[in-house]
Amino acid sequence: MEESKHIKLNQAKWNKWSESADGKGWLYDYLRRAQLGVISLLDIKEKTDFLDIGCGTGWAVGKVAELADNKGSFYGVDLSSGMIEKAKEKFKDDGNFHFIVANAESIPLADDSFDNIICTNSFHHYLHPGKAMKEMHRLLRKGGKLFILDPAADSWFIKVVDKIIKFIEPQHVRIYSTDEFKRLMSDAGLTHTGFKVITGRQKVQIGEKL
Ligand SMILES: C[S@@+](CC[C@H](N)C(=O)[O-])C[C@H]1O[C@@H](n2cnc3c(N)ncnc32)[C@H](O)[C@@H]1O
Repeated sequence: MEESKHIKLNQAKWNKWSESADGKGWLYDYLRRAQLGVISLLDIKEKTDFLDIGCGTGWAVGKVAELADNKGSFYGVDLSSGMIEKAKEKFKDDGNFHFIVANAESIPLADDSFDNIICTNSFHHYLHPGKAMKEMHRLLRKGGKLFILDPAADSWFIKVVDKIIKFIEPQHVRIYSTDEFKRLMSDAGLTHTGFKVITGRQKVQIGEKL
């Protein structure tokens, strides 16, 4: 699909979704539980410079700031202006929080800025996954860690689900297997250090900038 059309379709979908994104229900419970699973893997000592790519309304950004006792900087990036407006509204009184409307494939932030980057249930929407992975590498400091949570196409079930979603939703890109994540990370200069199963068939793929 042409890039501008892909972006427009995604923005329309997620702007609509943002209207109810902090709502209640099994889907939000599921997303929050998955995010908490990823956050539990972060190793935060004194402080952290943290980025969430595809951050939605910034829920995980707020949780990580709590965990770090608000020491450090807490960034969220999302393609949807609706999501980012909500995030800004929630955290408007705190100078440590920064929310930016941007495509994960081109993020207007400086090289080597972060020691932890997460990306939860968002990576499979990126049209050029290799470009997004290179951005993640560029933004991490040496020794920084990357945590990407998504369903993993390691089973026939998820491979079929991937095809069905593609059929229903033309802007859906792809769900990747663990081996594909390893390759994407290595091509971007990151080392895949392992994965953790979080909920059901979702895995967190962990990378490091050595
Ligand atoms: C299912 S929501 C997940 C939100 C949040 N990360 C969570 O775990 O609840 C997917 C998010 O990815 C964002 N997104 C989709 N494509 C994107 C892109 N190319 N760059 C940045 N964000 C994107 C959407 O706007 C949406 O907020």
